[in-house]
Amino acid sequence: MKNHVLRPLWVALAFVALVLAARYIIVPKDFGVQGESFTYNFHRAGNVGEWQAFPVKYRGTEVCAECHAEQGEALAASGHGIIQCENCHGPGTDHPETENPQTMTIDRSRALCLRCHADLGYPAGGRINIPAIDSGEHHADKECAACHNPHTLDLKEDVQ
Ligand code: HEC
Ligand code: HEC
Ligand code: HEC
Ligand code: HEC
Repeated sequence: MKNHVLRPLWVALAFVALVLAARYIIVPKDFGVQGESFTYNFHRAGNVGEWQAFPVKYRGTEVCAECHAEQGEALAASGHGIIQCENCHGPGTDHPETENPQTMTIDRSRALCLRCHADLGYPAGGRINIPAIDSGEHHADKECAACHNPHTLDLKEDVQ
């Protein structure tokens, strides 16, 4: 064969060899070892262990209510019963098993509540079922928790 025919062929073969070599180096050794039945073999075995070792951040309302029975019962009986404690108080993994048991934050900002209760001014999916307030009109400059108990949803005594 003529040289000018062979030369592109060598280039193409060199390219294929390069890709195969790169694949050999880059693809982890435990990739695709489980067999065809597992995610079409497109899976890295070590990933399972990585997720098992991933630290959990949230504990769930049931755990919180074991110690905070008062808040647990109040919340469950209120319209907020579908909300997890940690939705408002943040993740509680290290609480209270730390030197300082009071590590849970209490966020009293209006923003915490407005996340769900701000009137968006337009119909927005499931949000339409949550009573909305206009923050500028509804007792602006005062914490929501100054008047509303966030767990029972009752108005506080001095407000009624
Ligand atoms: C093993 C018992 C226990 C569990 C479980 C627990 N807590 Fe606590 N929590 C405590 C203790 C003890 C305190 C400190 C004393 C206090 O203020 O009641 C505390 C304090 C708090 C405070 C601060 C109270 C304040 O007045 O400053 C909040 C908020 C709180 N916990 C929320 C939670 C949430 C949310 C969960 C679930 C993720 C949770 N706790 C799980 C025992 C527990
Ligand atoms: C809708 C948001 C929200 C949810 C859900 C919520 N909290 Fe609270 N929590 C607050 C706010 C805001 C305060 C501060 C109340 C205040 O200043 O009167 C508070 C206060 C507390 C306190 C301090 C004592 C008290 O009662 O004021 C504890 C303890 C607590 N929450 C635990 C819990 C636990 C346990 C759950 C779940 C069963 C929970 N909270 C669910 C917003 C929430
Ligand atoms: C994660 C979303 C969410 C957050 C955050 C939240 N709420 Fe709610 N709120 C709801 C839902 C859902 C209801 C129940 C609506 C229903 O009755 O079906 C509700 C109901 C209420 C009601 C009763 C209204 C009525 O007409 O009966 C009050 C008051 C209220 N929330 C105040 C607060 C306050 C104060 C905060 C902040 C501490 C807060 N909410 C944070 C979702 C939220
Ligand atoms: C000064 C006290 C006060 C403050 C602060 C306050 N509220 Fe209210 N809120 C009330 C009273 C009183 C009512 C019942 C009468 C009414 O509808 O105005 C009410 C009613 C509501 C309702 C029911 C509205 C409806 O249509 O059923 C929601 C939801 C609510 N408040 C959320 C909040 C949120 C969220 C905040 C903070 C951003 C907040 N409130 C701050 C006193 C207060």
